[in-house]
Amino acid sequence: MVKTKHVPSPKVSLAFLNLLILAATVAAAAGSNGLDSPSFKTWRPWPFKKLNKPVVLMISCDGFRFGYQFKTETPNIDLLISGGTEAKTGLIPVFPTMTFPNHYSIATGLYPAYHGIIMNQFTDPITGEVFKRGLDPKWWLGEPLWVTAVNQGLKALTYFWAGSEVHKGSWTCPKGFCPHYNSSVSLEERVDTVLSHFDLPQYEIPDLMMLYFDEPDREGHSYGPDDPRVTNAVSRVDKMIGRVINGLKKRKIFDKVHVILLGDHGMVTNCECDNKVIFIDDLADWIKIPTNWIQAYSPVLAINPQWGRDVKNPAKKNAELVAKMNEALGSGKVENGEFLQVYLKEKLPERLHYSESSRIPPIIGMVGEGLIVKQNRTNVQECYGNHGYDNMFFSMRSIFIGHGPRFRRGKKMPSFENVQIYNVVAEILGLRPAPNNGSYLFTRSLLLPFW
Ligand SMILES: *[C@@H]1O[C@H](CO)[C@@H](O)[C@H](O)[C@H]1NC(C)=O
Ligand SMILES: *[C@@H]1O[C@H](CO)[C@@H](O)[C@H](O)[C@H]1NC(C)=O
Ligand SMILES: *[C@@H]1O[C@H](CO)[C@@H](O)[C@H](O)[C@H]1NC(C)=O
Ligand SMILES: [Zn+2]
Repeated sequence: MVKTKHVPSPKVSLAFLNLLILAATVAAAAGSNGLDSPSFKTWRPWPFKKLNKPVVLMISCDGFRFGYQFKTETPNIDLLISGGTEAKTGLIPVFPTMTFPNHYSIATGLYPAYHGIIMNQFTDPITGEVFKRGLDPKWWLGEPLWVTAVNQGLKALTYFWAGSEVHKGSWTCPKGFCPHYNSSVSLEERVDTVLSHFDLPQYEIPDLMMLYFDEPDREGHSYGPDDPRVTNAVSRVDKMIGRVINGLKKRKIFDKVHVILLGDHGMVTNCECDNKVIFIDDLADWIKIPTNWIQAYSPVLAINPQWGRDVKNPAKKNAELVAKMNEALGSGKVENGEFLQVYLKEKLPERLHYSESSRIPPIIGMVGEGLIVKQNRTNVQECYGNHGYDNMFFSMRSIFIGHGPRFRRGKKMPSFENVQIYNVVAEILGLRPAPNNGSYLFTRSLLLPFW
């Protein structure tokens, strides 16, 4: 790819690129019916007095499964959709489809194996250190958007985004621009605080704002995605989007701000009462697995075998363990065995991009949609919603809507993975992106060349 490798600065490269595209657009408009030319016709230098620079306001609704928007009236989300660009069949999360890995993939454009947050919680198989959403920078690899922004002289605001409290580069999670996570802060207060930053003097308005809602994830976990209480939470999130829209309209900048509305993953019912459970102890006739080897059961089974010192070739023993487990699961004698497939991490399907990290345990089990894995039969019956499963499942998808000057009105995009978003935001803000797993061509297909 040509990209911008040999071009000295991002501003220059962007201007240069815009010239190229302008030329191409003129040529295309001259030679066709000009379907693609409105962006050219309406082009002018940043034309808005109230806001003379591109601003991105990204809003994440945790656990907003694709399709929730059809559960009930969502007039405000609908307004963004009709006036903006939507992933028609939803945004594809990264595997595992958990909150921390996905929020940090959206922020960095990297798959979890490369940004280091491989699950919400995990033990490093090599060092034995435990990650529990801690803020030590050593866990958080890659370069999130807020760091890219401040490193290149822009201003950023984060409101509860996973990883944003970690100090990195020029980003120190500054007071007033990066509050400490506190789930008791109402959604209204979050919205109003973010909006108040638009009242700052022009040069102090953050170029990048990232806002997090913990709904409708909470209700989805507690009651499953089909419960009316989830529908209420969706309504409530829509009202918050309305609060954002009205706040921007009141300031006469609704059409000037790039609002990106998305979610980290979907939600699926997993109910023990439906007998959708796999018990590890049922494999005992083939293989016994000590409980302290198992780091996580479901939706991702993660096994870190602790072979004794006398074992000369642990890799071979791991492969044997996987083979035995799959033999048991495929025997027809383990209840629901067909819904669990176990892999050496290097052998996982490539589309998951889930092997290139020493933090990922050597053995990973892919659990069927909505299934639960447990050690043994206990009397506790769980019934709720969950996510974390294979990102191929439609139930794990979330939403993506972009609204604002660089997003076409009423456009529908095919679904795409959330690692593409980093480049999109970098392009809107004129930032030089850090290396990531998104593609530059995607950004070109999503965004209008000019505002
Ligand atoms: C969390 O937010 C609530 C509501 O705004 C507030 O009362 C409480 O003091 C906050 N807790 C901390 C630890 O800041
Ligand atoms: C079931 O598994 C748990 C660990 O998950 C263990 O503490 C318990 O002793 C096991 N019970 C039986 C009956 O094996
Ligand atoms: C993802 O991006 C990182 C950083 O550029 C790179 O090292 C890695 O090879 C990429 N992985 C894939 C699957 O593209
Ligand atoms: Zn989540």
